[in-house]
Amino acid sequence: MPTRNKTDDSKTLILGITGCIAAYKSPDIARGFMKLGYKVVPVLTKAATQFITPLTMQSICGGKAITSLFDLKNDNQFSHLSLSSQASAVLIAPATANILSKLANGTADDALSTLVLASKAPLFIAPAMNEKMYQNRKTQKNIDSLKKENAVFIGPQIGSLACGEEGVGRLAKVSLIVNSVEEALSDKYDFAGKKILVTAGGTREAIDPVRFIGNRSSGKMGYACAIELKNRGARVKLISANCSLSNPEGVEVINVETSKQMLEQVKANFSWAQAVIMSAAVSDFSPKKVLKEKIKKGKDLSVNLQKTPDILGELAKVKGNKILIGFAAESQDLISNAAKKLKDKKLDLIFANDITKKDSGFSSAYSELTCISPVGTEAIGRKLKEEAAAIVADKLKELFDSKILF
Ligand code: CTP
Repeated sequence: MPTRNKTDDSKTLILGITGCIAAYKSPDIARGFMKLGYKVVPVLTKAATQFITPLTMQSICGGKAITSLFDLKNDNQFSHLSLSSQASAVLIAPATANILSKLANGTADDALSTLVLASKAPLFIAPAMNEKMYQNRKTQKNIDSLKKENAVFIGPQIGSLACGEEGVGRLAKVSLIVNSVEEALSDKYDFAGKKILVTAGGTREAIDPVRFIGNRSSGKMGYACAIELKNRGARVKLISANCSLSNPEGVEVINVETSKQMLEQVKANFSWAQAVIMSAAVSDFSPKKVLKEKIKKGKDLSVNLQKTPDILGELAKVKGNKILIGFAAESQDLISNAAKKLKDKKLDLIFANDITKKDSGFSSAYSELTCISPVGTEAIGRKLKEEAAAIVADKLKELFDSKILF
């Protein structure tokens, strides 16, 4: 089982601290997450440094406290883009009315607002402010707009406020903040911190400048997997071959055309990924020679084909502790053919797809999959590709949970 109290780089929390008296609770918040095995990177606004020193946060978190954009620029490890892409989650606690306004409006004028704007990680906000400021129509409008963008709000609570008044605006209890984030990450965002490479679509191998060998894959299954995993908190790179689907929000899409280009991109991104889902239909053959000029009609024609490299086969050679998932398109002997691919390509799972079934598989909105692992076979039945993708993600999660180190 993965350890819970040892710092794990795949659980990196950016802790944003803004200028509010409740900032004195930030060390306790940081400690709460560190006990759960998070690496905490504190990012303080200028106003926050009036309430708590960067040195305090640095001493507790054991790493640099970021206070300005220039800290990020001067440190190779911590450019705002690399730091925001390392994060499993961003928590702003305490969050003032000012940071809510900046985030709702996309302002990026300091380290924290820039990091949040550049981040695709789940965003949690624990506001703390005077009740009148909290109830102000503009603040409420900013909160609504951030909620619509999936930010999760924790508190504020009712109680005595720093200004001497009673009302809503107190920072939520430290334990509530820590538990809410942890629960959301392990439940709704169960792939937080995971890096997954997905391939989709069908490769094309040129015969001449206008013709190619291709296949009927639309890429819907791979796109559905990428969206599902991203919605559950994963960082996803999608290598897409000839799909006419729009780029999913928050997913890095790398477009390729041929099996050779797909192999190159999969290899280039393999060390980044913890798991690979190969849903693309990769051409098994390419013309030996690509003609420069368009072939004119006339006599019968034969094209000499050569085998293309097997991408999963290549990954199998360097698999290490990475998870490999394949899809098998079969028109006969579904289970035995797919099981052979599982073994030959050293896969953790393969989803077999009976392509002879009507209205499922290639180009259809549905898939009828059977999940095959080294220990057994499970029929998943006919499902919308989005539903099938949720099942693929659940199976991948089980694999992550059963591995010792990620
Ligand atoms: N695959 C791959 N590289 C290839 C061909 C296939 O990585 N050159 C991957 C597919 O993305 C899929 C799995 O291997 O995840 C099985 O693909 P499939 O087309 O079903 O099988 P093949 O291995 O190509 O064998 P065959 O076409 O003979 O059934």
